Amino acid sequence: MMKTALVTGANKGIGLEIAKELCEKGFNVFLAARNPHLGSEAASYLVRQKYLCTFVPMDVADSASIREAFRFVSSKIQHLDVLVNNAGILLDHSQSILTTPESLILTTLQTNAVGALLVAQTFLPLMQRGGRIINVSSSGGQISRGASTFAPAYCISKTTMNAITLQLASELAPQGIAVNAMCPGWVQTEMGGAGAQRTVQQGADTAVWLATEAPQALTGKFLQDRKEIVW
Ligand SMILES: NC(=O)c1ccc[n+]([C@@H]2O[C@H](COP(=O)([O-])OP(=O)(O)OC[C@H]3O[C@@H](n4cnc5c(N)ncnc54)[C@H](OP(=O)(O)O)[C@@H]3O)[C@@H](O)[C@H]2O)c1
Repeated sequence: MMKTALVTGANKGIGLEIAKELCEKGFNVFLAARNPHLGSEAASYLVRQKYLCTFVPMDVADSASIREAFRFVSSKIQHLDVLVNNAGILLDHSQSILTTPESLILTTLQTNAVGALLVAQTFLPLMQRGGRIINVSSSGGQISRGASTFAPAYCISKTTMNAITLQLASELAPQGIAVNAMCPGWVQTEMGGAGAQRTVQQGADTAVWLATEAPQALTGKFLQDRKEIVW
C-alpha cells in the first residue's frame, strides 16, 4: 500500500523540501500550508513533477483549521504513516525576555508548540502501528545549551515542543508510533536569513530519514544529522 505523509508549513523552506523528498520516495504527500495561494502553488509544483501531492489548507495556530484539515485528509485516505510538524515562526530575534510582549509569546507558543501538539492529537486517529511523528525543533530549545538570550519566545517554544515530543513518545510507545524531535541546523530559508550555511536538503535530511529509514524503535529522542543530541 502507498505510504502517506502530512507535512505542515510546507509551502516553502525546509517543509517544502521534506514534502518533495517524501514524494521522491514514493509517498502520497499532503502538503499543508496556511496561505491557500502559496500552498496550492507549492503542491502544483510537485504535481507537475508527476508526484502524488495534495494541498491541505491548515493554520496550525487555529484549532478549527486543524480539524477542517483532518476532515479533508480523512476523506481522502484511510491511514497516515508520517506526520511532520514543521510549521514554525521566529518573530523575536532582537527581543529581550524582560520586555517580550505577551502577544508575541502567546503567538509563538501557539504556533510552534501547542499547534504541533494539536495537529498530532487531531491526526492520531488516522495513524497506526509503525507510524512516525517528526517534530521539527531547534537547538535553540536545548536546555543543556545553558545560558542564552537569543529569541526567548522562539527558544522557549522549541523547549516546549521537545517536552511535548517526550510526552507523546511515552504515550504512543505501546501503539508502536515513534515520536522524535530534530534540529535542521542553521538553514538557508526565510527564517534562517543571511549567514545560514546549510542547504534545505541538509536541513531536511534528518526529518526525511526519521520518516523513512530510521529504526522504528527509535523514539523519544532529539536528533541532528541523524545522531542523537542532548535535550
Ligand atoms: N532555518 C533555520 O535555520 C532553522 C533552524 C532551526 C529550526 N528551524 C525550524 O524549521 C522549521 C521550518 O523553518 P524554515 O527555516 O523552513 O522557515 P520558513 O522558510 O520561514 O518556513 C516556515 C513555514 O512555516 C509556516 N508557518 C508559520 N506559521 C504557520 C501557521 N500558523 N500555520 C501553518 N504554517 C505556518 C510558514 O508559512 P507562511 O509562508 O505562510 O509564513 C512557512 O511555510 C521551523 O519549525 C523552524 O523553527 C529552522
